[in-house]
Amino acid sequence: MAKGMKVAVIGGGTMGNGIAHVFAQSGYEASLIDVDKKILEKALATIDKNLSRQVKKGAIDEAAKESALGRIKTSTDMGAASSVDLVVEAITEDEPLKAKIFRDLDGLAPGSAILASNTSSIPITRLGANTKRPDKVIGMHFMNPVPVMQLVEVVRGLATSDETADTIVQLAKDLGKTPVVANDSPGFVSNRVLMPMIYEAIYCLYDNVEAAEAIDEIMKLGMNHPIGPLALADLIGLDVCLFIMEVLHKDLGEDKYRPCPLLRKYVGAGWLGRKSGKGFYSYE
Ligand code: NAI
Repeated sequence: MAKGMKVAVIGGGTMGNGIAHVFAQSGYEASLIDVDKKILEKALATIDKNLSRQVKKGAIDEAAKESALGRIKTSTDMGAASSVDLVVEAITEDEPLKAKIFRDLDGLAPGSAILASNTSSIPITRLGANTKRPDKVIGMHFMNPVPVMQLVEVVRGLATSDETADTIVQLAKDLGKTPVVANDSPGFVSNRVLMPMIYEAIYCLYDNVEAAEAIDEIMKLGMNHPIGPLALADLIGLDVCLFIMEVLHKDLGEDKYRPCPLLRKYVGAGWLGRKSGKGFYSYE
């Protein structure tokens, strides 16, 4: 996919703003689309702040920051995806919602466009089945925070063509990322391995094995992890963690994936982690 080609990112939350950021920084025109105008304003402010941090560190200069910002357009109208070469969907991790977006996008985006999803866990094959172009549907799973993290997990659905997979692998490299291809399965590789660790950390808290700080400190110092599992859950978003765990539990059918009641309680209270100011830790 050559530079100058157009990309639409659907969903301007935690992941969507980071995805628009890396595309724009690499020279792509990016439309960032969300149903909520306030989210889009917040997303632009976050991108501005993160680009400024890169300028401060000397990674890019002020002119590069300004031209990256100039390549991002925001919209609450899905019609902004009607003339793009690639869509990266990054809306809420909810399968019926994503299925509808894929049906809508299939009718809206040019027939040649690739429809990628940043889903953490929902099978790409099922998302592709909502379209008449399952060969052009693929997982492009960025990690959080997107401008910082190296990996893009590229997930091939049953019908994803070699051409689509090759394009997305090349594109991820062009964004300065390292793509790793995984076959389609609930949670793929990343969240199938990560989430059980986060579950156990939450159950340790629930069972009063220790306080959150101690659980995280043990995993950081003992396992050489840069961040503890509870702080990581707060960074990901506790609602997102719950959605992923529900997909693993339902689709793989094993009790070991059962979400902890404490996680449900926090999400029910609106304690979603960093994005709401409170989760296992307080961010106010
Ligand atoms: P988020 O809750 O921060 O953002 C989701 C956004 O989607 C919201 O701004 C919401 O207004 C918007 N949205 C919902 N329905 C929409 C629609 N019909 N049209 C347009 N926008 C719509 O969620 P987050 O964390 O950014 O997650 C997005 C996707 O990325 C999910 O599939 C999630 O599993 C995945 N993901 C999340 C990671 C994380 O660490 N949070 C890491 C990797 C993937």
